[in-house]
Amino acid sequence: MTRLLQVSALTRRFGGLTAVQDLTFDVGEREILGIIGPNGAGKTTAINLVSGVIQPSGGKVVFGGQTITGLPAYRLARKGLVRTFQSTTVYGERSVRENALRGAYLSLYPGFFNTVFNSAKARKMRARTEDIVDELLAWLSLTSVAHAAAGSLPYGYQKTLGLAITLASRPRLVMLDEPVAGLSAEEADHIRDTILKIRSRGITVIVVDHNMRFIKGLCDRVLVMNQGHELAMGSPAEVLANPKVIEAYLGRGHAAAHTN
Ligand SMILES: Nc1ncnc2c1ncn2[C@@H]1O[C@H](COP(=O)(O)OP(=O)(O)O)[C@@H](O)[C@H]1O
Ligand SMILES: [Mg+2]
Repeated sequence: MTRLLQVSALTRRFGGLTAVQDLTFDVGEREILGIIGPNGAGKTTAINLVSGVIQPSGGKVVFGGQTITGLPAYRLARKGLVRTFQSTTVYGERSVRENALRGAYLSLYPGFFNTVFNSAKARKMRARTEDIVDELLAWLSLTSVAHAAAGSLPYGYQKTLGLAITLASRPRLVMLDEPVAGLSAEEADHIRDTILKIRSRGITVIVVDHNMRFIKGLCDRVLVMNQGHELAMGSPAEVLANPKVIEAYLGRGHAAAHTN
């Protein structure tokens, strides 16, 4: 498999605390990599480092053969590497379509509103963006709610809208931080199916969660983190059978809650 992302010895300190230490892994083109681990393991910090939201204290990140270590998030987004934020989701009183369009403008044409408002070029960009968004809404089965106020929809739809906004930027690699947190089992299954569909479009996915059941049904490989370190890496079956992983979860009273 072609390597899309290579992370070497990535490290981030916050004062005296090392949140991520010597993390090394790679992700293949069109792979779905899961990152799991107990609370505070460094999962969110790891994806914030890779996506340029925060800067590393050490280490190296290569994306599509280019060294991208330390580049800011907006430059990485233009190269096709993005992470989702829950807060991109919604202006509750605006429609799903308006929310998606706004997200698409921001990601496709940063600076759009300051520069070319109302020119012929702007009209062309607008039409093109509307096409992209309408196609995405249809693809994600959101057309029937496109004109509903986003805030009136069940939380699961709002999460899917968050994915639509991210996809509008045409990414090659998306990173999702706990995409099913707070969802029912049924809604989580829907998000899992949606992530599989995203991959079927040729997009590579890194998904962070602490729900084993969700990760097991979704990921090709799983990186398990504990206290900033890699604890294990392998197929879902391999890592779930790994005594070190079982101990890290059982030791903190996690296993019963998250394996079924
Ligand atoms: N901005 C920050 N400043 C100080 N400490 C932080 C910051 N972000 C995260 N941490 C600490 O780093 C560790 C890892 O956090 P995080 O990456 O959020 O873990 P996870 O996502 O696995 O729950 C935690 O101990 C957390 O308190
Ligand atoms: Mg986190």
